[in-house]
Amino acid sequence: MAILPIRRAGDPVLREKAKRVRTIDSSIHKLIDDMWETMYDAPGVGLAAPQIGISLRVIVIDVPEHEPVALVNPEIVKRSGERDLDEGCLSVPGYRGHITRSVKVVAKGIDPYTGKEVRIKAQDDLMAEALEHEIDHVNGILYIDYLPGPDALVPVGDAPELKRLQER
Ligand code: NI
Repeated sequence: MAILPIRRAGDPVLREKAKRVRTIDSSIHKLIDDMWETMYDAPGVGLAAPQIGISLRVIVIDVPEHEPVALVNPEIVKRSGERDLDEGCLSVPGYRGHITRSVKVVAKGIDPYTGKEVRIKAQDDLMAEALEHEIDHVNGILYIDYLPGPDALVPVGDAPELKRLQER
């Protein structure tokens, strides 16, 4: 396993629509191991493969009150409701932003350890937010894209210049 550098907003790999994984082989398991290690080291509660420079549809999430989940080729199947959230991202260090996300989220994907399709239902919790956030990443979307205006992004700590983060 390896802790890999996390790509930051402005890096083109974060803006690509990541490729579907065709075969879950040892290289995918190694990728996921590296993603877990990188995420826990950061520390964060979710990570998508493009954030370590790999343009593949793979995500990992570990939030309280849920088992850790790794998903290959994840998709949102259903979403409903709206709620306001204060969100952050390891690729946008130094900022938090107020955005709107869904209340209920159903996602599906392949469990890389069993090879079987799994569905994850989440409602009004961090898992629902993380599923939308990480699946956005594999579609080249960052949460800052949803900001209603410049005041919605709040610097925390040592924040880099805002303009660079908004390039796409
Ligand atoms: Ni993120």
